[in-house]
Amino acid sequence: MTESEIFRSCLERLQKRLELLDDKPEETHESTLRALWMYVCDQPLSAQAAADCVLPELTPQQQDRLEQVLAERLDGKPLPHITGRQQFMGLELLASPEALVPRKETELLAKEAGRVLDQLCQQQGEALVVDVCTGAGNLPVALAKQRETARVHASDLSPEAVALAQRNVDLHDLQERISLHEGDLLAPFDHEGFHGRVDLITCNPPYISSAKVEQMPREIAAHEPKMAFDGGAFGVSILERLIRQSPGLLKQGGYLLFEIGLGQGERYVRRMQKKSEFREVRAIEDEHGDVRVIQARL
Ligand SMILES: C[S@@+](CC[C@H](N)C(=O)[O-])C[C@H]1O[C@@H](n2cnc3c(N)ncnc32)[C@H](O)[C@@H]1O
Repeated sequence: MTESEIFRSCLERLQKRLELLDDKPEETHESTLRALWMYVCDQPLSAQAAADCVLPELTPQQQDRLEQVLAERLDGKPLPHITGRQQFMGLELLASPEALVPRKETELLAKEAGRVLDQLCQQQGEALVVDVCTGAGNLPVALAKQRETARVHASDLSPEAVALAQRNVDLHDLQERISLHEGDLLAPFDHEGFHGRVDLITCNPPYISSAKVEQMPREIAAHEPKMAFDGGAFGVSILERLIRQSPGLLKQGGYLLFEIGLGQGERYVRRMQKKSEFREVRAIEDEHGDVRVIQARL
């Protein structure tokens, strides 16, 4: 078969049998095939990065390997778990089953946090940032890349997630400005160096109710860590603790920004407006008009 015949045959199979997920809009049938193709050529790339590159010719061994990884993908293995790559805010990152695959929707939180960080750095030259529930370390890497004077601390309860986040910090050579910690929510920062000193706290917590976690699509439920999604009986147990604990770390005038689930927005805007510690509560909507990020100031 010629290269274009191989491409067409693989694409047809993907189009017939691969169901795409709404929360990974970068994965089309074609970008999936291109990422798998580059992976078997020992050039692992995210779906976005593979979408634009010239596909090399395949050796017979690489053709066999492509058949294998295509079968794995059709069997539900997430694309970033095969390629080991995922893009976030235009940055190529390492991905693995150790942590949630960063989602496009979380770029809304990254962009808003980046805007606050720019403002803080312009006003005071530098900023102390804490990202909790950091997963693969996508938020701290994106923020530290954006501003050279940002000092970022990030943490996660999962030691596996912290290990992957460290590899992403190393990949982007940010060891001098990002420190990783393992522990429950804000507990790793419960000491003098942080009390009342943090300029910005970011968090994309687990916010799905335990009952709904069981009903997630198989590709997610069978491959990504449950701890990344499960927010307890009502989905908001981590969020509630974050709101309660963060004033203890924030500087006066410091910011808290967090992502929330679809349908949780209006309630949490009201909730934050009623909290006497916070002011300037902002509801940030995605392109569909749903509130997905909340910003508040101490
Ligand atoms: C929705 S994922 C977010 C990952 C990453 N920040 C992102 O945006 O892609 C939530 C993360 O919270 C972590 N987590 C769950 N419970 C936690 C807790 N009590 N304390 C700290 N991290 C927790 C999970 O291990 C997971 O990495």
